[in-house]
Amino acid sequence: MTQPHYPPTAAPAPWRESFLGGSPQAEAALFRTLAEQMRAVQMRNQQASGQSRPGRTLHAQMLAGMVGARLEVNPQLAPGLAQAHFQPGAVLACDLRLSFASGLAHGGLQRDMRGAALRLHLPQGGAHEILLTNFPVSHARDARQFVEIATLMTGPKALMPLKMLLRLGPGETLRVLRNLSAATGGLRGLAEENFWSRGALLWSEAGPVRLKLHPAAAVGGVPAEGESVAAHFARLLASQDLAWHLSAQRYQDETRTPIEDGCTGWSDADVPWERVATLTVPRQDLGTPTASAQAQALDATPFNPWHAPQAFRPLGNLNRVRRDIYAASAQRWAGRDGGGGGGGRDGAAGAPPHSAR
Ligand code: HEM
Repeated sequence: MTQPHYPPTAAPAPWRESFLGGSPQAEAALFRTLAEQMRAVQMRNQQASGQSRPGRTLHAQMLAGMVGARLEVNPQLAPGLAQAHFQPGAVLACDLRLSFASGLAHGGLQRDMRGAALRLHLPQGGAHEILLTNFPVSHARDARQFVEIATLMTGPKALMPLKMLLRLGPGETLRVLRNLSAATGGLRGLAEENFWSRGALLWSEAGPVRLKLHPAAAVGGVPAEGESVAAHFARLLASQDLAWHLSAQRYQDETRTPIEDGCTGWSDADVPWERVATLTVPRQDLGTPTASAQAQALDATPFNPWHAPQAFRPLGNLNRVRRDIYAASAQRWAGRDGGGGGGGRDGAAGAPPHSAR
């Protein structure tokens, strides 16, 4: 096999985060308002579901939950990306929760995005959680727009485009609807799904990166007629290991690889993807009582991209806003936010989100 071409090891290009509203204080005040709006989304979803307790504000429906997966770091990992627990050949135990993105459970008949939440167990204790969805870029330009759209989505579906038009104007509405349509279209099976971090995260000394989880092999197309996405995935996993590669794009400069603008992609043509690791879910029967109990226990634990060592903290306003919103959401559905997974060399990323430099 020919070796991929990796950029030479060099110090990362200078980068910075900048705050919505122009200052950490202004952004913090805005985030408090956005957190209130997301709380209202969660309450509306609870009402619509008829449940006595709220569920996850988004990604309420688990499609598969698996413990005992493993992430093997690429033995030929580019030296610059070999940071902390990501050392060539290292194997990390890992859990995986696959979900539909909606805040309301549904039978899979409606078009919906999909999410993958990874919990890497760190050798020194603690966890590094990585959350991804099945489209390279966010539909929302920034945190404000994300919450605005999440709020619109809790209303009647038929009125959403019109309401969006009034709130965002024609250009942004068209862009958002195109993004959502592309992200929720297609009938790919979960085992062949691609997932992106969409936002950037710090990769210790390597600087900011974006991540992608992509299937290691073609394994079995689409669900059969009448078969749910979850059942199709379970059927494939019953007969074979399923594997994805985790790859990273590195920050280049603010124009080609923006940190604060979540709806602009880091172009594949401009920025190479570098293989970081391979995630393998071992062949198993998800229908046994043990596997079901493990999946339910996993479903009951909150994920948060800020459950990460400080040296791997998420970056950009769309990520900064997630820290407290996920924690507050989990407080309401699980009675806890799951704590800072971190525990890595540099401690959990529970530091104030306004630690931008
Ligand atoms: C930018 C890229 C984003 C990605 C890749 C992403 C991905 C995900 C995933 C995979 C989950 C499910 C986690 C699980 O399995 O427990 C999730 C949940 C959630 N997301 Fe995001 N998300 C993004 C942005 C946002 C933003 C900007 C907000 C809010 C402003 C948000 C709000 C939420 C909430 C409230 C939950 C439920 C958390 C809980 O109650 O445990 N997400 N997201």
